[in-house]
Amino acid sequence: MSFEIRPITHEEFTPFATLLEHAFGHAPNPEVIEHFRKVFEFDRSLAAFDGSRIVGTAGIDSFELTLPGLTRVPAAGVTAVTVAPTHRRRGILTSMMRQQLRDVRERGEPVAMLLASESVIYGRYGYGLATHQVELQADRGYSEFGRHPKITGSVEPIDREEAPRVLPKIYDEVRRQYPGCVDRSDKWWELTFRDIESWRDGHSDRLYVVYRSGKGKLEGYVSYRVKMNWEDGGFSNGKMRVTDFITGSSEARAALWRFCLGVDLMTSVTIDNAPVDDPLRWMMADPRRLRIKSAIDFLWIRLVDVVASLSARRYSLEGKLVLEVEDPFCPENSGRYVLEGGPGGATCKRTRTKPDLSLQITDLGAAYLGGVAFSTLARAGRVLENGKGSLRRADLMFSSDPQPWCSTGF
Ligand SMILES: CC(C)(COP(=O)(O)OP(=O)(O)OC[C@H]1O[C@@H](n2cnc3c(N)ncnc32)[C@H](O)[C@@H]1OP(=O)(O)O)[C@@H](O)C(=O)NCCC(=O)NCCS
Repeated sequence: MSFEIRPITHEEFTPFATLLEHAFGHAPNPEVIEHFRKVFEFDRSLAAFDGSRIVGTAGIDSFELTLPGLTRVPAAGVTAVTVAPTHRRRGILTSMMRQQLRDVRERGEPVAMLLASESVIYGRYGYGLATHQVELQADRGYSEFGRHPKITGSVEPIDREEAPRVLPKIYDEVRRQYPGCVDRSDKWWELTFRDIESWRDGHSDRLYVVYRSGKGKLEGYVSYRVKMNWEDGGFSNGKMRVTDFITGSSEARAALWRFCLGVDLMTSVTIDNAPVDDPLRWMMADPRRLRIKSAIDFLWIRLVDVVASLSARRYSLEGKLVLEVEDPFCPENSGRYVLEGGPGGATCKRTRTKPDLSLQITDLGAAYLGGVAFSTLARAGRVLENGKGSLRRADLMFSSDPQPWCSTGF
């Protein structure tokens, strides 16, 4: 049986959002639904209908993605994906994914990306695991620094009213310095600053501090919550959760981290989403005490247009590679591509030349931001080297410093 799949109208938003909320285990919250109605890109939505009933949902948020070399491309952020429990495993998701990718290609976005609720779902549609989210936890009892940059500026609190005027500007500068980061729309910020109580998991409202350099420039900020807990009749065991640790400056990072480790009555500080190569560990006198609580997949990348996406980024080393790409879900992408690139620019075109590497589109998406080496993928049985030295060359060309990191949920 086939189901009609099409964008929704404004009138259809409530049942669409209700299905979505239920699928993710939330009781539908009118405040959340009303907010999502405002931010939702209706023309990029898809719903599957069984008669007049919505049984599948999907959406796209339009983003700009920073690439290695700090170029940027428009990228389709797939979101709001669900299929009603009554209609699962009948191919509805597959049909929505196919329709979505067609739309992305028609709009000229070279890349699609998503955050996956389960990592088993999206590989079949060509999405590869491109970045990780690392949850770091520091024990405040062991918070001495070993070394850190000289700090010439100061950390200042920012209140709720001021935060919307200050934070988005800092974020927008930093996200341009990090491969894997995306822009945040005004509406994204509006939802963040609304700070919906049911999403706080018993923590306080969000608190904010910024770092002002010695020259007066705002170079970073931290958003955090606290959860107080008194034990054994009078011992504090507070927890601090950092929801955003945003800076591109070493000085600001050190100052903001020192601030986080200095909040009294807290016994631990957790950063929800830190980069894989976060330098914080190397600042600590007792680095093992900065624990990795978890490291899970975050951004999944799907190259929709191989030529445009490979030409758009920069490469760490000047080089040439012929890639044989297989794309079972979008066979029109399958074929051989010759990539010539370096730090100053890149070109990519179709070719018939003998390939250096053979791989699936999923794996090219995984390696695209430099978050995993081709040689690692080869050891996982995912990439075939046809000419000796090709893996090494590909690794060097695609590597990224800093490692890619996406700081934004969508
Ligand atoms: C994930 C979800 C959208 C899948 O929808 P669906 O319509 O059942 O998917 P399809 O029928 O198109 O499945 C396509 C293939 O993926 C597999 N698949 C889909 N979801 C899967 C899952 N969660 N675990 C394992 N396999 C899954 C199917 O078995 C099928 O495999 P096949 O092609 O070998 O037969 C649905 O299970 C769901 O709504 N889950 C809860 C919400 C959620 O996690 N959404 C994703 C947000 S990122």
